[in-house]
Amino acid sequence: MEDIELLGNTFDLYMKKGKEAKEKGNYALAKRNFLLAGETMMKIAKISQGKLKNVRMDRAKRIVELSERIGTQKEKKKEETEEDEDVKKWQQAEIPNIHFSDVAGLEEVKKAIKIRMINPFLYPDKYKLYNKKTGGGVLLYGPPGTGKTMIAKAIACEVGAKFYAVKGSDIVSKWVGESERNINSLFEEANKQDKAIIFIDEMDSLLGKRGQDIHNDKRVNEFLQQIDGFAGKNPNLLLLGATNRPWDIDTAATRSGRFSQKIYIPLPDEKARKFMIEKNMKNVPVSKDFDIDKIVSKTELYSGADIDELCDRAKDEPLLKAIETDKIVEVTNKDFDNILKIFPPSVTESELKKFEEYNNDIESLLVKNKKK
Ligand SMILES: Nc1ncnc2c1ncn2[C@@H]1O[C@H](COP(=O)(O)OP(=O)(O)O)[C@@H](O)[C@H]1O
Ligand SMILES: [Mg+2]
Repeated sequence: MEDIELLGNTFDLYMKKGKEAKEKGNYALAKRNFLLAGETMMKIAKISQGKLKNVRMDRAKRIVELSERIGTQKEKKKEETEEDEDVKKWQQAEIPNIHFSDVAGLEEVKKAIKIRMINPFLYPDKYKLYNKKTGGGVLLYGPPGTGKTMIAKAIACEVGAKFYAVKGSDIVSKWVGESERNINSLFEEANKQDKAIIFIDEMDSLLGKRGQDIHNDKRVNEFLQQIDGFAGKNPNLLLLGATNRPWDIDTAATRSGRFSQKIYIPLPDEKARKFMIEKNMKNVPVSKDFDIDKIVSKTELYSGADIDELCDRAKDEPLLKAIETDKIVEVTNKDFDNILKIFPPSVTESELKKFEEYNNDIESLLVKNKKK
């Protein structure tokens, strides 16, 4: 079996040679090198595990496609490398249009975020006056579908910041190659803005625990260096991470100044679920005796994303009948019960327990630190 690191270096070399040749207008040579780079990435994909395998496979295909396009089209635009495409995507970053009021429940979380992230942006003078620490990164963690991405966008919206989103797994898949430089260009691009938020989803795949896999260790070290180069230096640049697997993240990543503040995003409570169901059923024809509280009490472990799906699927039968009969067919509690029977919550009790244990561990850590 060939080593990923070795193949990674080979890949780098082909990409570099390809780019140099392209810049000089030697398209034949550029083509050959990009093709070899693509083939090398395919080899890397074949010995990669899990999700990375697919991501790398896709990347290999894209590079091969790119090599085929080189020199054949008049328009220069189409000849851009995938790195250019990333940068372009980042340049198009916008201020999201999701408000805190759209996020159901999570009142404590919202309060913590206001103090830690929103107010320093809005009232920098006051924070200075009280000598409050600002900047650095915040890690949102919790079960999937609880609104982490939504909250990240809402923060950007509330402070009027441009929102740069990247996935840990995407960064990792590109780490062999030019992604270090690429990540740097992301930070630079965000740094240019008046206000910006860099949101890194799937932080666990980017910052795995060190000491088990040298590729991971190398990447974690390099990425942390990059973070240190930016985090805390520009108070108008916020770093936000999210993960469903906080226990897999290297502890150095959550050292002060990096992702030092962790915020738990739990499953929605009854009030939050009611808010979400009401929103989903707004202006939808429902039966006279339609009872949202009954649904609320039956959806204990359902995440926000689950609630969305439940409501959507509950509408299917009445909608079908409405089309068949060309009459208004009301949604009833029975429609919800039918879906609940076949659609269990996506978070299991044992997964939830893992979060509880993790939270207990963090709390005891905090207590220990205080005693020192
Ligand atoms: N607290 C919430 N309030 C309102 N909607 C939510 C909430 N949590 C989840 N949702 C719904 O579920 C979808 C997925 O949520 P998302 O933010 O992507 O979850 P996560 O990032 O935690 O996996 C959202 O687009 C939204 O429709
Ligand atoms: Mg998400």
